[in-house]
Amino acid sequence: MKKLLLSTILSISFISSAFAAHPQCGETELANIMGNMKDNMKAIKGAAKADDFEKINAIAKQLLVDVQKAEQYVPLAISDKKELNQEQQKEFDDYKNGIANLEKAVTSLTTATNIEEQKAALGKIGKAAKKGHKAFKMDCDE
Ligand code: HEM
Repeated sequence: MKKLLLSTILSISFISSAFAAHPQCGETELANIMGNMKDNMKAIKGAAKADDFEKINAIAKQLLVDVQKAEQYVPLAISDKKELNQEQQKEFDDYKNGIANLEKAVTSLTTATNIEEQKAALGKIGKAAKKGHKAFKMDCDE
């Protein structure tokens, strides 16, 4: 009985890894850039809690550099190859629009002149990320 239980557990974990979204899920250059963006957002949110205008402004500039980099990479959910077919190219254009939307929000964070404007920009960034992930981010656990 114990053996059966063990082999069942092993086969379930094997099946779930065999059906993982993609072998490169979470390991792409884009995932790496997004991970940096997450760290910067965490630091910005901490600074926002402390109403630290200067700190938010400084980190926002670093965040903007990563957002501009992210535009060049094709999400894994669209393709794992450089050559895109017509349909994939259309999806990639949509992705780039989503990143442009995020870039606009992050730019407004860098040009905000007071903490209220910064907080409004943070709300827009959160919305852009949610929308972008819903459309283009693969769930690595699936
Ligand atoms: C400041 C805003 C954002 C933050 C903090 C953020 C953060 C993240 C994080 C933490 C991941 C997971 C990385 C990993 O697996 O290690 C991720 C993945 C991803 N994000 Fe974002 N994200 C943001 C905005 C966006 C936007 C606007 C889009 C699309 C228009 C987007 C598209 C994606 C995609 C496609 C992936 C999967 C990477 C891949 O396909 O290889 N993200 N993001």
